[in-house]
Amino acid sequence: MKRFILSLLMCLLFFYGNAQSASDKFNIIPIPAELNQGTGHFKIDASSKIGYTNQQDKKVAELLQQHLKNTYQLKLALQKGSQGKSVIHFSSPESDTLRLRESYELSVSPGRIVVKGKEAGLYYGLQTLLQLLPEKNSKSLDIPAVSIKDQPLYAYRGLHLDVSRHMFPVSFIKKYIDYMAAYKLNNFHWHLTDDQGWRIEIKKYPRLTAVGAYREETMIGRHNQGPNYNFDGTPYGGFYTQQEIREVVAYAAAKHVNVIPELEMPGHALAALAAYPELACGDRPGPFKVAAAWGVFEDVFCAGKEQTFETLEGILDEVMELFPSSYIHIGGDESPKVRWKACAHCQKRIKEQGLKDEHELQSYFVQRMEKYLNSKGRKIIGWDEILEGGLAPNATVMSWRGESGGIAAAKQGHDVIMTAHSNGLYFDLQQSLRDQQEPLNIGGYAGLEKVYLSEPTPKGLTLTEHKYILGVQANLWTEYIATTKKVEYMLFPRLFALAEIAWSKPESKQWEKFSGERVATHLATLDKVGTTYRVPEVIGLRDTSIHAPSYTIERLQPSVKGGKIYYTIDNFDPGDTDLEYTGPVTISAAAGKERIFKAVVISPSGRKSNYITLKLSNAPAK
Ligand code: ACM
Ligand code: ZN
Repeated sequence: MKRFILSLLMCLLFFYGNAQSASDKFNIIPIPAELNQGTGHFKIDASSKIGYTNQQDKKVAELLQQHLKNTYQLKLALQKGSQGKSVIHFSSPESDTLRLRESYELSVSPGRIVVKGKEAGLYYGLQTLLQLLPEKNSKSLDIPAVSIKDQPLYAYRGLHLDVSRHMFPVSFIKKYIDYMAAYKLNNFHWHLTDDQGWRIEIKKYPRLTAVGAYREETMIGRHNQGPNYNFDGTPYGGFYTQQEIREVVAYAAAKHVNVIPELEMPGHALAALAAYPELACGDRPGPFKVAAAWGVFEDVFCAGKEQTFETLEGILDEVMELFPSSYIHIGGDESPKVRWKACAHCQKRIKEQGLKDEHELQSYFVQRMEKYLNSKGRKIIGWDEILEGGLAPNATVMSWRGESGGIAAAKQGHDVIMTAHSNGLYFDLQQSLRDQQEPLNIGGYAGLEKVYLSEPTPKGLTLTEHKYILGVQANLWTEYIATTKKVEYMLFPRLFALAEIAWSKPESKQWEKFSGERVATHLATLDKVGTTYRVPEVIGLRDTSIHAPSYTIERLQPSVKGGKIYYTIDNFDPGDTDLEYTGPVTISAAAGKERIFKAVVISPSGRKSNYITLKLSNAPAK
């Protein structure tokens, strides 16, 4: 009887354990809306076939074929239809449950994998399937049986990249888009112009790149170091040709990523003014230099001169030719009013238009650009400063200085994209609270946990106002990011958290499982393919002080699957020549003494985390 009860208990534990871990086991990011584990598995081998129903589906089928060939040297045959013993079938049926363009269903059972979805949905079904494949050099390609129904929480899931402060080759821009698409992000916000460089070829105004794409030198170190600015003395610059831009836009479209160009106006315009100084305030403005320092500059486009608008419209004509995106981002942030206050042209405009002040002049500027773009069938997005002096009638607001801009815009019935600095969505901020252990960055904290635990839709909106929140985006400003490796370092693992808050249901949030299982697994994949990323600190310990004679450190876990934990008790920074943590470690301190335990994670490829410190203090003997 005792034995029977024990077996029953074991059985219950087994089932309970399984139910608990159904979605953990699959480690999908972003976590799907619905996942049910099946029994058995599908085995991909040389006899398996990839089926499709129409030409659209065939494209996705070919992507899988390519992936299997590249990753496992397995060349599978394609076929029209789903016949056969071992088939992976892609289809886009007219089904009620797949009404949404981005939703998909994926079912894996012995002998058959079926992926259903339309357009982006089918593509996302493939992305999920790719995440279920075993790692690169696995001997057998088994996929556990599962049934997934999935759709996104938000329609807009964005990632931004500033290429003005530093630029990156087209090959890397494509890689950036690959990262987005693999995690179901669908809008690439390409920040193409700013004070420090104009990066898009405009044929009508060749000086924008001939002059505006190059700066004499670049600031080094943090820019808030007071008057002791430091420069590298090295010219820097470059731009994307129209041909390259077309190539990027087409590449992104094939991955269901829309590219939104941003052309900054009226502020952040020094590079353009260096090329065409007559577009600044006053009668004989300039000369201007492309900025070598970071920050906000007082010279902006003049809002009084007709020439400013004619030029910007000419620029936007070419931009619209290059980018099919219905959204064009016109900036609008951080535009000082100093020059406008002193400019006869701007003051005349204020008077003629019956405007109250320079804030209303900014609103006039933005509304005029909106009117032009609307007349060509496009919509504008602007940073939340476009609320000042009155919103343009059809503008979408990107809320960055916190959530208040987003709330105000939604309350006025405007669409909003949330990218709040205060929610950790500025990926140029540092990923840990330990300043000294991070590479140079803009400062402020935006760690993985902060991003993951943030809620894109702000509190304080009514349910009917929720519909104006189109989605969420993270921004990557590159003042302190000169290399592609550093872009990747700042991106990962935070991109995982972004993908999840953008796609998955908020009620599926579980920080421990996300960081300990799913992130750890995905980082192991990046580790294998040589993508740079930040290794999160060891799991199971935070910086702590404990008052006791001894303490046992239990259940530490590496933040990267397959990684190892090393520790020291001598206050040195641990490395792979130190003690390896393989189970509970007890440390002790003599009366009146301290013992410092420090632990790091080292990934399979040798990447190292910051250390976590536990300080044990033993009270002096009485
Ligand atoms: C911004 O960060 N200036 C939009
Ligand atoms: Zn002016």
